[in-house]
Amino acid sequence: MIYLAVMGSERKNKNTNAALDAFLKGISNKGHTYEKVYLKDVEINRCIACDNCSRTGHCIYNDGMGDLYKKIDQCDVFVVASPIYFNTINAHTKTMVDRAQRYWGIKYGYGRDKIDIPKKVGFFIGVGGAKYTHDQFLWAIPVMDMFFKALNAEFRGIYNISETDQIQVSDRPSILKELEEIGENFSDLKEFFIQKVL
Ligand SMILES: Cc1cc2nc3c(=O)[nH]c(=O)nc-3n(C[C@H](O)[C@H](O)[C@H](O)COP(=O)(O)O)c2cc1C
Repeated sequence: MIYLAVMGSERKNKNTNAALDAFLKGISNKGHTYEKVYLKDVEINRCIACDNCSRTGHCIYNDGMGDLYKKIDQCDVFVVASPIYFNTINAHTKTMVDRAQRYWGIKYGYGRDKIDIPKKVGFFIGVGGAKYTHDQFLWAIPVMDMFFKALNAEFRGIYNISETDQIQVSDRPSILKELEEIGENFSDLKEFFIQKVL
């Protein structure tokens, strides 16, 4: 199993990173290896809707997303961890998501019946600083759902954590333990699940 993880926070050592690392620890415990990408370090241009991907199957940009496309295509499990900004994923993560337009271009334009997009499984970790409200993560979920659909990833689960501006993830051992366990058991998981930690 090839695991790819992207960490979307601007802050490399804060809550989103701690949550993702706990999940990845579980992956390692089971003997799997993973590659972790800090989106902050990857130069990803914004999609400019030129439609080149629909016409040619390729994005016009020659930037860090090229390498990420390859990693995405090669992985079996794709884990995305993002902070919640204004009730959805943050800009680093959304910029990557918009560049998945290339996959729509391949599927419904040029690449149809020519380019195979390998199947995989997707998992999302959302981290919100505020106290839990019913709509805190609500607009991140359909965005990630559409993103995973574009990549041919079966959306297998969501783990959302609230109130990280009050109590850091690194100070919440029960969350770290649970994420580690989810990581350990992830390859056996068949059912979609949502876990909210308030
Ligand atoms: C621009 C901005 C917008 C934010 N919007 C929300 C929000 O809508 N809901 C929420 O719960 N937290 C919000 N937060 C708080 C972050 O989700 C919180 O600080 C989180 O821990 C950030 O992840 P990090 O610790 O990994 O950087 C916002 C923070 C910033 C900087």
